Amino acid sequence: MIDMDFIINTHENVYVPAEDSYLLAENLEIKRGQSVLEIGTGSGIVAMYASKLTDKVTATDINFDAITLAESNFKENNIDNIELLFGNLFEPVKNRKFDVILFNTPYLPTEEGEVIDDTINYAFDGGLNGRKVIDRFINEVSNYLNDKGIVQMIQSSLSNNDRTLDMFDSRGFVAEIAKSESFFFEEIVLINAYKI
Ligand SMILES: C[S@@+](CC[C@H](N)C(=O)[O-])C[C@H]1O[C@@H](n2cnc3c(N)ncnc32)[C@H](O)[C@@H]1O
Repeated sequence: MIDMDFIINTHENVYVPAEDSYLLAENLEIKRGQSVLEIGTGSGIVAMYASKLTDKVTATDINFDAITLAESNFKENNIDNIELLFGNLFEPVKNRKFDVILFNTPYLPTEEGEVIDDTINYAFDGGLNGRKVIDRFINEVSNYLNDKGIVQMIQSSLSNNDRTLDMFDSRGFVAEIAKSESFFFEEIVLINAYKI
């Protein structure tokens, strides 16, 4: 049994692990030896789970406060097999490919007046339809994924699950809603997409 009981420090400008984080972290489809990329690591929680399942984990974030926090959380938990990179989506991993790509996306539909004037905004802001980052991610992800690789991503029913499944389908993936959790105003889903 692998111990996933991590010490997680938080920071006011970084996403605090929540139900969506654990929906991804507790359902990882990673085999030992596989290379893993997590986009948007936040506190580092998902990458830490991944680091117990394989040796090769890379984690990124567009929020520098998240990079600093994740680095200290990795140290605090004596984890030394996660490469941490700062940047926007795949920009820090140009010309590289991975077996598994993970992303708990910023999926909330966000009006202009709801934008938070700080880096924590990156954790939530999915633009008007909740798909600003999701669409870019799906459009680009195949270039960074090995053949037979898998994408595991989190989003909400508020940001159109069917559109995500259709986008993966038209890009040569077999995608499904693998798990879901209902809340009173939305359903959070884990989507697994297999590159065939
Ligand atoms: C919902 S939070 C998830 C954080 C953490 N992975 C978890 O599950 O608790 C989304 C994370 O993605 C990051 N993010 C948003 N847009 C990004 C982008 N374009 N490139 C890289 N990271 C991004 C945010 O800064 C935030 O840390």
